[in-house]
Amino acid sequence: MTGRRDGPLMRSGGSSHSFGKSRIAAAIAVGIAIGCVFTFLLPVGLFSVAGPPLQNRRLVNSQGESSSSSCESSEQMNKLKSENVAFSQKNAELKKEVRELMEKLKLAEQGKDEAQKQVLALGKQQKAGPFGTVKGSRTNPTVVPDESVNPRLAKILEKVAVNRELIVALANSNVKDLLEVWFTNIKRVGILNYLVVALDEDMAKFCESNSVPVYKRDPDEGVDSVGRTGGSRPVSGLKFRILREFLQLGYSVLLSDIDIVFLQNPFDHLYRDSDVESMTDGHDNRTAYGFDDVFDEPGMDWTRDGHTNRVSVYNCGFFYIRPTIPSIELLDRVAARLSQETAWDQAVFNEELFFPSHNGHEGLHAAKRTMDFYLFMNSKVLYRTVIKDAFLRKMKPVIVHVNYHHDKLLRMKAVVEYYVNGKEDALKPFPNRADS
Ligand SMILES: *[C@@H]1O[C@H](CO)[C@@H](O)[C@H](O)[C@H]1NC(C)=O
Repeated sequence: MTGRRDGPLMRSGGSSHSFGKSRIAAAIAVGIAIGCVFTFLLPVGLFSVAGPPLQNRRLVNSQGESSSSSCESSEQMNKLKSENVAFSQKNAELKKEVRELMEKLKLAEQGKDEAQKQVLALGKQQKAGPFGTVKGSRTNPTVVPDESVNPRLAKILEKVAVNRELIVALANSNVKDLLEVWFTNIKRVGILNYLVVALDEDMAKFCESNSVPVYKRDPDEGVDSVGRTGGSRPVSGLKFRILREFLQLGYSVLLSDIDIVFLQNPFDHLYRDSDVESMTDGHDNRTAYGFDDVFDEPGMDWTRDGHTNRVSVYNCGFFYIRPTIPSIELLDRVAARLSQETAWDQAVFNEELFFPSHNGHEGLHAAKRTMDFYLFMNSKVLYRTVIKDAFLRKMKPVIVHVNYHHDKLLRMKAVVEYYVNGKEDALKPFPNRADS
C-alpha cells in the first residue's frame, strides 16, 4: 500500500495538494510575523500593565514640573489607554486568524479540501432534496479520448469497437487450444466487437489465420518481454497496463480471460452505471452480493457477536470497466502494486476496490457493480448448484467461466455440448471435487 503513494498518479495529485498546503503555511507565517510585530516591537505588553509603572516613570522623568504637565500626562494616558485597547483587540483578532489558519491546515491534511475540489470538477453544489429523493452520482463521467497515447491501437479500435466498447483478451501461444474455443463461441453468438492482444508473434499469426481481430504490441515496448515469458502472474500485471491504453483512448473494455465460454452477447446484459462491473467468485446471494458475517467471541459475554461485512471477491478475469478517472486510477494502483509486491493480482484488485480510506491510506472512489452470478457464471456455481437444480439447468447463462476447475479445455467443451448442443449429460463426467 505504501508503494502506491509513489505512483505517477499519486504524485501529480499530491503536488497540487502540497501547493495548497504551502499557501496556507505561508499565510500562517505572515500572520505569525504580524503578531510578533505587535507583541514585541510595539510595546503592547508595556501598555497592558498600564497604570502605575508608566505613571511612576513619567513622574520620575518630569520631576519638578507644574500641574499643567500632570494634566497633559493624564490626557496622554487616556490616549495611550485607548491605543492599548485597540492593540489588544488587534492582537486577539490576529490570534484568532492564526487559529483559523491552523484549523484549515489540519483539514487540508485530512483531505477535506478534496471534496471541495471534486465539487468544482463535477459541477455546482446543490441543496439536498426531500426525504427519499436524494441520490449520489454513481456514474462517473468518461475521460476525453486521447489518441496520441497509441495511434495504432486507436485505428484498430475504430474498426473493431461497437458503441465504443469491446471484449479484450490477452493471450500468448501457449493457450491456442483454449483461445480457439473462446473465439469460436464468440463468433457463434455473433459478437463482432472483440480483440485479442497477442503477446507473441505466433499468437498474432494464429489469430490472423482464424480471422480473429488481433492487436500485437510493439516489441520495443518494455513490458512485452514479460508477456512472452508466459507465466500467468506476469501477464496479470501487464494486463492492467495494457488496459489503461484502451481506457485512455476512450473505450469501455470487457476484459475476458480465455477459459470462458460465451453463450449470449454480454453487451445486452450490462448496466454500465459503475466504473467497474465485475463477475463474482461468489456462489449464492449472500456470498456474491454481500452479507453480515457474524463471528462468535464467547469471552465478550453479551457482545459476543462480532459483525463483519463480507462479500466474495470480484473475478478479475471477467469485468467491464468504463473509461473514467477512478477506473484508470484502479488500473494504475493494481499495476504499481503488482510491480512492487509478490501478490495475487485478484487480491490486489479487490483490496484497491473495496478497502476504505484509513489513516494515511486513501481508498479508491470507484463505483462497483456485481454481475448476476447466474448470468455471468463461475464453474463453482455451475457444478455445485446449477447442474443439480432442474429449474436452473434450463436457464442459459451469458458466459461460463471455468475458473474454479482444472481440465479447462475439457470443461469448456462440455459447457458447449451442454448449452449449445443440448447434450443433457455433458457436464456429468466432471464432478466437483468439493462435492464428492
Ligand atoms: C436471491 O435473490 C433474488 C433477488 O435478488 C431472489 O429472487 C432469490 O429468491 C434469492 N435466492 C435465494 C435462494 O434466497
